[in-house]
Amino acid sequence: MRQFISVADIGPLDKALAEAAMIKQDRFAFTGLGRNKTLLMIFFNSSLRTRLSTQKAAMNLGMNVIVLDVNQGAWKLETERGVIMDGDKAEHLLEAIPVMGSYCDIIGVRSFAGLTDKKADYEETVISQFIKYSGRPVFSMEAATRHPLQSFADLITIEEYKTVERPKVVMTWAPHPKALPQAVPNSFAEWMTAADYDFVITHPHGYELDPAFTKGATIEYDQRKALEGADFVYAKNWSAYTDPNYGKVLSTDRAWTVDAEKMGLTNNAFFMHCLPVRRNMIVTDDVIESERSLVIPEAANREISAQVVIKRLLENL
Ligand code: CP
Repeated sequence: MRQFISVADIGPLDKALAEAAMIKQDRFAFTGLGRNKTLLMIFFNSSLRTRLSTQKAAMNLGMNVIVLDVNQGAWKLETERGVIMDGDKAEHLLEAIPVMGSYCDIIGVRSFAGLTDKKADYEETVISQFIKYSGRPVFSMEAATRHPLQSFADLITIEEYKTVERPKVVMTWAPHPKALPQAVPNSFAEWMTAADYDFVITHPHGYELDPAFTKGATIEYDQRKALEGADFVYAKNWSAYTDPNYGKVLSTDRAWTVDAEKMGLTNNAFFMHCLPVRRNMIVTDDVIESERSLVIPEAANREISAQVVIKRLLENL
């Protein structure tokens, strides 16, 4: 594997899941693989889980790790070519990327959607430039349109907890006060359809996602109907994708909050969320604290998904 930006890069899911299970059995089995190799993790946006789990995964493989927060201590970076750089941005990404590549063997990048220019977001302007100009294998630690390390961890978690071969997995939009990217729901949809689960997406009108990601899923606008018989409930907020409302918050209707009464419509479903989560907006305290909540094991599996990906990149250096 030379890059990891979507489900297409991971190959057959059964093999990836088997590798994840093996690593979970003994996460130090490949500790020599990363000896004298350096991972550079570059953050354009904040993180708790991705930062810690990816760093831990690389350390399990024996790697050295450098973490750069671009907005804290580095020069402000220009990303557009052709711009007259007479403003506050002191360095261009086109020099910064190959320089960063010269200090490491593998690069992880986190760069969220700006939510103002849909074309730039969906062309993945930032991570694409890292792939093109760094000279190193690049993996996504959440880009503008996808969060594949999260989705892989979600898949591992569902496989660990499912009791039927083809569970019903319902991704429900839930309210949030701020505009959030579509990366997590896009990616989750992509991975759930690749896994061939009975996958249902429910959201208010106006929150339709890019059909390129949701093809194969059932779209149900009635949240209560969607939740009936669910084995897993995956809550997530996202901002509008469709024009002319791209990147906007169209609703903060708390009638969409996942609560115990709604979980009662399901097949005693497990509750999932990628975190961080706004309690009593996305999900009520009692649901997230219930014994059916998987948010902590789901986050713990981020170490495993990252380790499978970094291991495969190391094996192809
Ligand atoms: N789920 C997730 O990616 O969390 P962080 O933003 O804290 O990394």
